[in-house]
Amino acid sequence: MPENETTAPSLENLLHETRAFPPSPAFAAQANAQASLYEEAKADRLGFWADQARELVTWSTPFTQTLDWSGAPVAKWFADGKLNAAYNAVDRHVEAGLGDRVAIHFEGEPGDTRTVTYADLQREVSRAANALTALGVTQGDRVVIYLPMLVESVVAMLACARIGAPHSVVFGGFSADALRSRIADAEAKLVITADGGYRRGAPSALKPAVDEAVGPKDGEPASTVEHVLVVRRTGQDVAWTEGRDVWWHDALEHADTFHEPVAVDAEHPLFILYTSGTTGKPKGILHTTGGYLTQAAYTHKNVFDLKAESDVYWCTADIGWVTGHTYVVYGPLANGATQVIYEGTPDTPHRGRWWELVEKYQVSILYTAPTAIRTCMKWGEDIPAGFDLSSLRVLGSVGEPINPEAWMWYRRVIGGDTAPIVDTWWQTETGGIMISPLPGVTATKPGSAQVALPGIVADVVDDEAHSVPDGGGGYLVLSEPWPSMLRGIWGDLQRFKDTYWSRFEGLYFAGDGAKKDEDGDIWLLGRVDDVMNVSGHRLSTTEIESALVSHDVVAEAAVVGANDETTGQAVVAFVILRGEHADRASTPEGAEEVQAELRNHVAKEIGPIAKPRRILVVPELPKTRSGKIMRRLLRDVAENRTVGDATTLADSSVMDLISAGLAKPS
Ligand code: WTA
Repeated sequence: MPENETTAPSLENLLHETRAFPPSPAFAAQANAQASLYEEAKADRLGFWADQARELVTWSTPFTQTLDWSGAPVAKWFADGKLNAAYNAVDRHVEAGLGDRVAIHFEGEPGDTRTVTYADLQREVSRAANALTALGVTQGDRVVIYLPMLVESVVAMLACARIGAPHSVVFGGFSADALRSRIADAEAKLVITADGGYRRGAPSALKPAVDEAVGPKDGEPASTVEHVLVVRRTGQDVAWTEGRDVWWHDALEHADTFHEPVAVDAEHPLFILYTSGTTGKPKGILHTTGGYLTQAAYTHKNVFDLKAESDVYWCTADIGWVTGHTYVVYGPLANGATQVIYEGTPDTPHRGRWWELVEKYQVSILYTAPTAIRTCMKWGEDIPAGFDLSSLRVLGSVGEPINPEAWMWYRRVIGGDTAPIVDTWWQTETGGIMISPLPGVTATKPGSAQVALPGIVADVVDDEAHSVPDGGGGYLVLSEPWPSMLRGIWGDLQRFKDTYWSRFEGLYFAGDGAKKDEDGDIWLLGRVDDVMNVSGHRLSTTEIESALVSHDVVAEAAVVGANDETTGQAVVAFVILRGEHADRASTPEGAEEVQAELRNHVAKEIGPIAKPRRILVVPELPKTRSGKIMRRLLRDVAENRTVGDATTLADSSVMDLISAGLAKPS
């Protein structure tokens, strides 16, 4: 393992987990995916994917080639086919006579609701597509979307897809600076935002961040953005730039409800989604249309056992993350599902809000993150017990390893001891689920994502890229191209190659540590690089370090992800103050003030989600002779453990210095 490995040691005990839960015969009998799916895919992997693409996606020009890997590692799937993702998500269901089916049950945080059928969605998306066109957006232009969870957010994404303009959704919790750098990198022509959204019982503004992000700043010119389209959600006052800003409702009111979707090449960019990497600069992960949509629909149908005519599906992810792209927008809608979208936080106005929604809408499939499950555990099981959750028949988990205890609680308290749990491993880069049980086939094990889906080839390898035997541990790799794989990093092909394809020859390196148990099932152990996972959100240690160092008082900073019972990991920062400021932290009040200042600074630079939980002022940082910070040792400190082997440090007394400083009452 490399020096900076972050594999959570507490997860070692996962391998002693021996419980297994086979599907009930009744569930197995009705399941979409049967064991034969593995055989089929194994017999002819490319043929299998071609079948999925023909069966689950409607093509305006059918493809004749399945995979072109000649430009590896940039794949082309179904390259000579043409299609439109919005047509697949909306129109074809209306054409099939399903226009009256509910696509979205929207629930606002204050309790306002809206029911949107597929026919409604078709009209709205068409109007929005016409409005975008009227504002000068054409095929290939990039549109940044910075919105809360609203019906309009889904409509905005689909309107972009409809005209062939790649969208780049930026999570509403990111700051103006983070938004600015993403707009600049994507060279976006238009931004879609809202006055604000409701969070924790109050309106929370979004438009001011956009105003700050698109205008000129500190000698930098104004951005490439020509128009800002603003959804009115909260009715908050907004600053208005005439000629640039346009109300969404005005633009749509004047737009026609008919719009002909543009047929794009299978490899036409569908979206760019920025995610944290191991360096400070976020990576614009590029996804294209045909392969992405195929895998989104295939995984959504088989992993969640979706029965579109009877299920009510709810994925709690925000559209700002990849889970919201694939499992709120493209997967469920391509499959004609009925789903719930909820704007707010799980504890507003009370801690039973989610379970109230499950009862109200008779949700049958729930897809959420371990951090949410652990939070509910903390709140106590009497809260969900107060609601009728008997409609739930499949439960999903995503975003980080789920500890067996949380898995068992999820199954017993939420799933009534019967609903199968699918622990789904994937990434922004993979576009869709890669490793997961199939709910009617796999005997599930608490804490393990277990098996690569039919059509996917995954392995665990050692430092020399050799497949480890059952019982062994190493790095997770993907050994064959898959349809929804990223097609690169926006504007930086070399970085794409270096990041994912240079560690092991010919293999995609995911950045995760993993083990195989005695049955050959895969257990994910967390990141092995400088990426942290806080409440299922990906954050880069380097990015937060850069933010800290950009503050006047900080000379140097090191950030680690420390294990946290609820959020998985928590951001802990070690900072060295600049000489002239060092005194400020010598009193408890002074230290508190500096810490608060730095926390706010990180919130401003990146967003509130990146705020360090703890900031420790230290005199030195532990470094190797080559100058690399040994985060492993800092993690020991952050997790209150005895500091491990420090012999490779350039100066081995540094850890004593740090520990002594922290032991002192500050
Ligand atoms: C982690 C989220 C264990 C992993 C879809 C991965 C998981 C990173 C799981 C990607 C899981 C996601 N078990 N770890 N079921 N799902 N991860 O890009 O470290 O936000 O590399 O995509 O989350 O995070 P991202």
